[in-house]
Amino acid sequence: MWGLCVGTLVIISITQYWIYRWRNPKCNGKLPPGSMGFPLLGETLQFFTPSTSFDISPFIKRRIERYGPVFKTSLVGRPLIVSTDPDFNYFIFQQENKLFQCWYPDTFRKILGRENLADLHGSIHKYVKNMVLNLVGPESLKTMLPEIEQVAQRTLQQWSCEDSVELKEASANMIFGLTAKKLIGYDSNESKEDLRGNFDAFIGGLISFPLNVPGTAYHKSIQGRKRVLRTLKNMLQERQAKLRNTPIDFFDYVIEELEKDGTLLTEGMSLNLMFALLFASFETTSVATTLALKFLSDHPLVLKQLTEEHEMILKQRDNADSGLTWEEYKSMTFTFQFINETVRLANIAPGIFRRAMTEINFKEYIIPAGWTVMVCPPAVHLNPANYEDPLDFNPWRWEGMEKTDASKNFLAFGGGMRFCVGADFAKVQMAVFLHCLLTKYRWKVISGGNIVRTPGVQFPDGFHIQILKKEDACMTEKHETTST
Ligand code: HEM
Ligand SMILES: *[C@@H]1O[C@H](CO)[C@@H](O)[C@H](O)[C@H]1NC(C)=O
Ligand SMILES: *[C@@H]1O[C@H](CO)[C@@H](O)[C@H](O)[C@H]1NC(C)=O
Repeated sequence: MWGLCVGTLVIISITQYWIYRWRNPKCNGKLPPGSMGFPLLGETLQFFTPSTSFDISPFIKRRIERYGPVFKTSLVGRPLIVSTDPDFNYFIFQQENKLFQCWYPDTFRKILGRENLADLHGSIHKYVKNMVLNLVGPESLKTMLPEIEQVAQRTLQQWSCEDSVELKEASANMIFGLTAKKLIGYDSNESKEDLRGNFDAFIGGLISFPLNVPGTAYHKSIQGRKRVLRTLKNMLQERQAKLRNTPIDFFDYVIEELEKDGTLLTEGMSLNLMFALLFASFETTSVATTLALKFLSDHPLVLKQLTEEHEMILKQRDNADSGLTWEEYKSMTFTFQFINETVRLANIAPGIFRRAMTEINFKEYIIPAGWTVMVCPPAVHLNPANYEDPLDFNPWRWEGMEKTDASKNFLAFGGGMRFCVGADFAKVQMAVFLHCLLTKYRWKVISGGNIVRTPGVQFPDGFHIQILKKEDACMTEKHETTST
């Protein structure tokens, strides 16, 4: 009897001590304010609560009000510091690989692969990043421009024959088609393998409960990833068997690198890299493209000015049908303001994760070594101190911004050494698509277009539009210009 009582008391006090420790983690100083939530669970459920507005998620907003711009919490069993402070964000990005290191949650890494770019640091990261820049950096984009335009034109032509197009899915297909061609020479027409379908399975479970049993989205995701990797591996081996003399796509280039003496690249790394690039390119840019058309549909004045900018490009040419030049692309001033404004409000990356490599001092606070830090771009993009009336869609706010040091307040593509390597690629694809669309087509919204953030952006009912040829309007305009 006594034994049982003492036992119970011991268990209670251990539990109490454990809860106390959970709520008050060890630290050689003062931790940032905030609540660690329930033991183990932390504040995970609150964090993943869906929200349907463009505003900062209620989870983050409430905590900024209560604790200030830097606070602590706990997600999926790990202590986490959230930063919405521009100076601290800047510091984190500048200290990449010194005080902080790129770090993503385990569930994410299990799906994205161990040897991923996010898991590579230092010189190997620089080396792989340069390989990617060789593919999608400005120099390569210049030569890719005609092909990007052709793909956009062909795609729009196909869409205009349909009564309704679900834009998120359809633009993802368009972007996947182009990236897969440039990356691995994959043509969905010719290949027997359903690469895109396997990717869909993969994405469906990307942000899902990590339970790996048949039937769950997570399980399908892992299976999808396996099939994509198997396809990529087969393709790599086929290519290695019959080497080409002149490299045409990224695959050729990777094989060249793999066969160099003393190369840093492994087969596993290159397959994971291809996988990550296919994924990173089409899942992000298609969301941005879908939102771009939604914003245009809702803001006629923006649509008018953007259309004028692109019609002007055609008017100033000798031959309206000659393809886009790089100079013309560079001249799309309002388009770039429009794209900045779109990705500012889109907040495609709800959080950018890092890990403190040593104990870190910030103002009066201490962040213990090993803790995760999340930079929160939405909180920066929607802060009225940085952007007046932050929820207004207003591309004109970017006028003259290039001259100021705005980069601290613009984190859509990250910052520092890990700044998105595909940012230019995404911008070219969007600008060229808009150019083809606005000069030759108009559209009607049929349904959908609502967003939900969990916290990644999704379109629960899609965004269905009908694309119509502008032909008649073009004809009358041509008559007018010839008669004057
Ligand atoms: C609108 C479109 C896009 C958005 C909003 C976006 C956003 C981001 C962000 C926020 C990061 C930083 C992640 C971090 O610091 O941990 C990043 C990194 C990256 N992005 Fe993008 N991205 C876009 C398009 C693309 C495209 C088209 C590609 C494909 C070429 C791409 C490939 C990558 C890669 C490989 C990294 C990792 C860079 C590194 O670790 O050094 N992204 N992106
Ligand atoms: C794929 O097939 C469609 C229709 O069969 C055709 O219009 C298109 O040009 C083909 N694409 C490529 C890249 O060959
Ligand atoms: C878009 O934002 C970036 C980052 O602040 C800035 O450097 C660039 O000049 C902006 N573009 C335009 C057209 O305002």
